[in-house]
Amino acid sequence: MTKPRVLSGIQPTGELHLGNYLGAIRNWVNIQEQYDSFLFMADLHAITVPHDPSQLAQNTAKVAAMYLACGIDLNHATIFVQSHVAAHPELAWLFMCITPLNWLDDMVQFKEKAIKQGEQVGAGLLTYPVLQAADIMLYEPDKVPVGEDQKQHLELTRDIVNSFNHRFGKPKHPILKLPEPMIQAEGARVMSLTDGTKKMSKSDPSDLSRINLLDPPDLIRTKIKKCKTDPVKGLVFGDRDRPECNNLLTLYLLLSGKTKEAVASECAEMGWGQFKPLLTEAAIAHLQPIQEKYHTIMNEPGYLDTVLRQGKEKAEAIANQTLLKVKTAMGYSLP
Ligand code: TYM
Repeated sequence: MTKPRVLSGIQPTGELHLGNYLGAIRNWVNIQEQYDSFLFMADLHAITVPHDPSQLAQNTAKVAAMYLACGIDLNHATIFVQSHVAAHPELAWLFMCITPLNWLDDMVQFKEKAIKQGEQVGAGLLTYPVLQAADIMLYEPDKVPVGEDQKQHLELTRDIVNSFNHRFGKPKHPILKLPEPMIQAEGARVMSLTDGTKKMSKSDPSDLSRINLLDPPDLIRTKIKKCKTDPVKGLVFGDRDRPECNNLLTLYLLLSGKTKEAVASECAEMGWGQFKPLLTEAAIAHLQPIQEKYHTIMNEPGYLDTVLRQGKEKAEAIANQTLLKVKTAMGYSLP
């Protein structure tokens, strides 16, 4: 019996942090035995804001190594580089021509990032979610496991698919299968360490706002020591007026592997002075084996190149079939 499929990706821009891990990668690892997983590095997305060409390939390899270090198993998953599969930008173009412009300027991430770039904002930043729709639809996954910030892009993908099926398919015989987002209850929105109302993000100018997966223990200690808290004693989940408290408790929950009930009762009477060392040690202990495995992978000459070459072949075979199906439906002739 064939397994259902999942697809997801991460942009190779900057260091991966706990948000990327808890919102995305950890879930990919948890579900990988039940799904055929396609996981990629979104390096075409990485150039939608100004980038450094001397770092792009290296950053892409580092993300691949991090997938493996976090526990992605090549017996269940295919890891590949987006730019190695030319069908991605080709399908993006086809989708772009059926996507109304006003669907794109509603995208929250576009608005946020465009503000930062002023008049220099590139057209690629606006059309980025269409490329994301193409990334997804080439593999026709059942589920797309992502953090909460990607929900709107998933909704747009579904709108594009519905529009495509309506225009080029027959009623009751859709050409492309609608994907479902898969967003976890806990960890889907990890917040900044310096402001519990802002998402933890690679692009925050302050490194103190995030814990990167490769941060050494001393840096993790410093960041947690300095992180924002509140003056209330007793730590509880879910109090909307205490965003930092909820965020830090959730980090402790996910990194310690304890149950929510256990964490709630352990921390109910605690002050921050008692809690912060607990969170620090849980983070260090959780990240240590990941960091060790990461360095082993990065130091093994040729290993990643082989993984990514095999990934490209597997991904391309599926992507090209879907592209052909789409182009045929749109009226293109075959060469
Ligand atoms: P990116 O690179 O910004 O983030 C990668 C994954 O990490 C999740 N994430 C978070 N989850 C919880 N809390 C946070 N603070 C946090 N920050 C990031 C994101 O939700 C995401 O799952 N557009 C995508 C990349 C992409 C993609 C795709 C994803 C391109 N094509 C197709 C899925 C399917 C992005 O920029 O993710």
